[in-house]
Parts: sequence; C-alpha cells; structure tokens
Amino acid sequence: MERVTINDVGPRDGLQAQAKILEVSEKLQLIMALTDAKLPAIEVGAFVSPKAVPAMAGTDEIVRSLPNSDVKYSALIPNLRGYQNGKETGIPLMSLVVAVTDTMNEKNIRMTTDQALDVCSEVLGVAKLDGIEVQAYVATAWQCPFEGHVAQDDVMRVTNRLLKSGAKRIVVADTIGAAAPSEVFDLMARMSTEFGSDKLACHFHDTRGMGVADVYAALDAGIRRFDSSIAGLGGCPFAPGASGNVATEDVVLMCEQMGYDTGIDLKKLLQAADLAIELTGTAKGGRAKKWLEKNHQKIKS
Ligand code: COA
Ligand code: ZN
Repeated sequence: MERVTINDVGPRDGLQAQAKILEVSEKLQLIMALTDAKLPAIEVGAFVSPKAVPAMAGTDEIVRSLPNSDVKYSALIPNLRGYQNGKETGIPLMSLVVAVTDTMNEKNIRMTTDQALDVCSEVLGVAKLDGIEVQAYVATAWQCPFEGHVAQDDVMRVTNRLLKSGAKRIVVADTIGAAAPSEVFDLMARMSTEFGSDKLACHFHDTRGMGVADVYAALDAGIRRFDSSIAGLGGCPFAPGASGNVATEDVVLMCEQMGYDTGIDLKKLLQAADLAIELTGTAKGGRAKKWLEKNHQKIKS
C-alpha cells in the first residue's frame, strides 16, 4: 500500500484563532492524544510574537515537555527570532510562513513578500549551518482574502526562491479555503513537474466544503503529504473568512478507503477528536466522524 503522510496542525492552526485560549497542559493533552493515535507528524505550536497571537504563548514549554518519539513534531516560525527560540527547545522541524501576496504578508508578519523571502533566506542559511530542518508554507496560493485571485506564476516564483534558499519542503496552503479541486489539480500538477512531488505538501481549509475534494485533487497530481486538523479545528486570525482546516478524520477515511496507508489508529483518532471538541467547545468534528464511530473497524478489513 502506498503511504500518505498526514501532519495534524490542530494544536497550531487549530488553536491560534480560538476565542478560548487553552492552557499549556490542555494543549499537551491534545498533542499526546494525537501522538497516541499514531499521527506521523504534528505541528505543536508557533514561535511567534505572543502579542500577535496570544494563543501560541507557551510553545517553548510545550516542546520541552514532548516525549521522545518517532513523531515529527514541528512549529511555525515567522522570522529569525522565532527560529532561534525554536532551536533552543530542540524542535526537530520548523516551518517558515510566506504568503504569495504582499497584503497578506503585511497583515500577518508585517513584511512585504520580498522582505519575507529575504528573511526566509537568512533563516534557511543559518539552519543549514546548524543542521536543523526547516520547511516553508507558501500561503494564499490560490486566493488571498485581500487581493483575490493569485497567479500561478507568483506561486512558482515564491516556491522557487524558498527551495533554492534550502527549504526542505514547501507546504502549499489554501489559507482561506477558496480553491476548487480543478484549480488545486492544475497548480499541484505544474508544481510537481517543476519541483518534484516529494518536495511538496498541501494544506487545505474546509470553508466551502471542498477540503476533502481538494485533497483528492492534490493526490491525483501526485502529492502524498497533507496537513489537516483534528475535528476540523482551524483558522488564521489575520485572514478574514478562514474557517477550520479540513478535518483529519475525513482525510484519513478518504485515503484509507482509497487504499492508501496513513498508519493512523482510527479508534484513537476519534478519541483525539472528542478531546479537541471538549477542550475548545467549538470544534465540530469531521463530517465523517459519526459514521466512523460506528464503522472504523471495517475500513481496513
Ligand atoms: N517570537 C516572539 N516574539 C517576537 C518574535 C518571535 N518570533 N519576533 C519578534 N518578536 C517580538 C519583538 O521582540 C518585539 O517585542 P517587544 O514589543 O517586547 O519589544 C515585538 O515582537 C515586535 O517586534 P517587531 O520585530 O517589531 O515585530 P512586528 O511587530 O513587526 O511583528 C511578527 C512581526 C512576525 C513578530 C508578528 O507579526 C508575528 O508574530 N506574526 C505571526 C503571525 C502568525 O502566527 N499568524 C498565523 C500563522 S500563519
Ligand atoms: Zn491554515
């Protein structure tokens, strides 16, 4: 069976815009539930300004409390300061973030796209000397909440710069969940041809109910790595209209039913989804959650 690797971004993307800010101990509980469910990768927080995103305060404490495990734990960083803070904790993977559009970058990280790319290049240079893995999100890859439609050529240019600067992988993100599956296929097929699908991952939001269809379209274009969020948590505080990420349980069910192996324990994944719902009070749970609760044991048989 072919492997699809899922990175659960619930503890970061899922929690960063919640009205209720969870305690460090509660976030750790959620991360441990995902670890128990055998998620191969989990984004556990962000080394960003606590003034900009109060919900991500305490990420250093979280990383220092993580168990030794095979899980690829990662955290988001916006600049060199974030990289250095992350490095001090020993996190094995960090994710830079650059939007394709200037306005989104100015709102999110207070830089233009070119300034952000220069910062990324500096961080990637330092990380290479340190021997630490750093990947990069390319955000607003299809639509920007401020500038509208995003040109493929601009996505290619930003991606090219980041890969040339040494990014391990590019996570192509539909930040506000606006892309149609046909648009996802077009861009990801072009990017796979140009950069190689092993250098790419996708990150979708389910704002228009097309999250799972977008994953399908990207799979069709050769992508085998996806971000998703437990119980469909998620949203960017600086991107108006962004709703929850595509739910991990929905993506896992589709991939497993299509014959891919995610390595995830579905029963424990559902327990993690219940915990996410209980802790936040707002997560809805994936659309497949109810069905899975009755039938999860059938998927692999
Ligand atoms: N982590 C923690 N604090 C940081 C930081 C980081 N990575 N980078 C800068 N800071 C601090 C500075 O030390 C300074 O602190 P002070 O006010 O106590 O002196 C303050 O933040 C402002 O620094 P400055 O360089 O002027 O930053 P800014 O106000 O231009 O903000 C960012 C830039 C990138 C720090 C901020 O916009 C940010 O953290 N954005 C993250 C957005 C995000 O996470 N979005 C969701 C995910 S896509
Ligand atoms: Zn997101």
